[in-house]
Amino acid sequence: MSAPPLIVLTGAGISAESGLATFRDNNGLWERHRVEEVATPEAFAADPALVHRFYNARRAQLADPAIQPNAAHRALGQLFANWKAPALLVTQNVDDLHDRAMPGSDALLHMHGELKKVRCTACGQRRAWAGDLSTGTPCPACGATGMLRPDIVWFGEMPLGMDRIEDALQDCRLFLSIGTSGQVYPAAGFVAALRGRAERIELNLEPSLGSHLFEEARHGPATLLVPKRVEELLARWG
Ligand code: APR
Repeated sequence: MSAPPLIVLTGAGISAESGLATFRDNNGLWERHRVEEVATPEAFAADPALVHRFYNARRAQLADPAIQPNAAHRALGQLFANWKAPALLVTQNVDDLHDRAMPGSDALLHMHGELKKVRCTACGQRRAWAGDLSTGTPCPACGATGMLRPDIVWFGEMPLGMDRIEDALQDCRLFLSIGTSGQVYPAAGFVAALRGRAERIELNLEPSLGSHLFEEARHGPATLLVPKRVEELLARWG
């Protein structure tokens, strides 16, 4: 039998052992602000300097040499390099650890945007961005000042790549959900959409909200669970 079309969905839990905090750590607080209060278009309109500080700190973290892809990111790199059917890695993460573990792959889709990109709200251009962003930073393309924003999908905004994701969900026969609490839609709804059509596997530190919708759920740290499950999948289908 040939390998089944695959979707892997990842969340903050896969990057936790690389040293990046998950969203709902620390009671979901950052400098006494609820994360939802710095990750909305309304928050950016009300206090852009605060929102820039939040994302500048997280962008700077990615430049720290101590922050590297872990065994789970690397195992997924192996899985995607060897999978003999259509495969899409949909990540909710805005870090670049999957990118580093599977460089140049066009199977990776950042549905919630990327820390290392900015977008100009005046001219619409997206570009790679490594340093800090402030309310005075001019857009290198159109010159407008104060119009650059992190290329991040905030609460209330439409995730990126939904057409491609919908197409992949139609064809998907094997679904892995890794390191996500299952609280944020539309990603949290993929497993229910695949009921009866795809084999559904959860790999997470603890049961997610939608754990009961998976046929198989293994609970523990991603760096242990993911390499083992990838090895099993490649032994069967690789
Ligand atoms: N290995 C596996 N899973 C882990 C690990 C680990 N080492 N550490 C934590 N987890 C699990 C947690 O148990 C939790 O269920 O990862 C999950 C992380 O959940 P969240 O912090 O809610 O992150 P995520 O699901 O990615 O959040 C979705 O919410 O804030 C928004 O846009 C943001 O993309 C984010 C979205």
